[in-house]
Amino acid sequence: MALTTLALPLLRLLPAERAHELTIRALKTGLAPSRPPIDDPALATRLWQLNFPNPIGLAAGFDKNAEVPDAMLRWGVGFTEIGTVTPRPQAGNPLPRLFRLAEDQAVINRMGFNNEGLGIVAARLTARARKGIVGANLGKNRDAADATADYCRGVATLAPLADYLVINISSPNTPGLRDLQRRSEVGALIHAVVEARDAVRLDRAPPILLKIAPDLTRQEIDDIAEVALQSKIDGIIVSNTTVARPATLRSANAPEPGGLSGKPLFEPSTAVLAEIYRRTQGRIPLVGVGGVSSGEDAYAKIRAGASLVQLYSALVYQGPALIARIKRDLLVCLKRDGFSHVAEAVGSGAGRVVSGADRLGARDGA
Ligand code: FNR
Repeated sequence: MALTTLALPLLRLLPAERAHELTIRALKTGLAPSRPPIDDPALATRLWQLNFPNPIGLAAGFDKNAEVPDAMLRWGVGFTEIGTVTPRPQAGNPLPRLFRLAEDQAVINRMGFNNEGLGIVAARLTARARKGIVGANLGKNRDAADATADYCRGVATLAPLADYLVINISSPNTPGLRDLQRRSEVGALIHAVVEARDAVRLDRAPPILLKIAPDLTRQEIDDIAEVALQSKIDGIIVSNTTVARPATLRSANAPEPGGLSGKPLFEPSTAVLAEIYRRTQGRIPLVGVGGVSSGEDAYAKIRAGASLVQLYSALVYQGPALIARIKRDLLVCLKRDGFSHVAEAVGSGAGRVVSGADRLGARDGA
């Protein structure tokens, strides 16, 4: 722990992507506790027949190639999401493509799905002992002629190896990708990926989640909520990075093109989360992500309707010790407001309180 606190200011002297590479290397070579901490039972969350020891997860983009899922689980996340993975390896956009906005506690990235491809990622996941929950976030190659076929390949390859799958149609750094969120596209895409998963014939088919952007209009939010309710999608992750640039940004890097994440994303992404929760009446489990950097932030996402929470950018500034702090402070928030279990707080700030049993019963198959 002391080592990571010491290393953080040093890492910050390096270009952001180099610092990230060194972090992954350090995690691969043992920079992690030897075993995960034991979580308070009040944080345990059961969804899709999976038992999450706590609801705080690592968001996609940190471990794109599934190099360190177990190290991150030992740091205490309740689940981790590898990817985005595309069928074939690809280099992504030219460097520099990752920028810190320290004054704003934010990050801008235009990585463009740099990753080693499904083959290598599948081999790494196959080699794991499969302790702890690991999701796989799937994308399409930049030059793919048929986007649906790319997502279906990802589903078919990783369904046997991941605890849940994510259809990422919200990265701003692959031209045309976000158009898949349109009403006319998203229903057919969901249908195709569900069919691809069911064709694999597993004892336990992984749930499929959709990851959406925070930059949707009210009409687009309505459309996605309606399609989600009519489809066999199992959950929605809200949200990816934003292409908006709030007027409050102070950093010199603010005009860089790409997706903005971290603190300035918290409010807009939580607003979309609350709206999706309202529109889906709590019937589809939601994952809240965007700008979480404290236990209070995680609690706000949960009250807005998130059953699970993820983060990435705050780790750049606060290091992995943040995970334990968030869980501790989340417990304080729950206790303060009289909740004996985190599931009771889900959606409690959304006007209409949906009971944990109603919510879980809808999609848990229980
Ligand atoms: C991301 N994010 C991301 N999301 C995704 O679905 N696939 C990806 O490959 C990536 N890659 C990626 C790289 C970098 C450098 C960052 C900062 C982010 C988005 C991420 O998962 C998350 O949705 C947003 O960053 C918002 O959360 P935070 O960072 O504000 O906690």
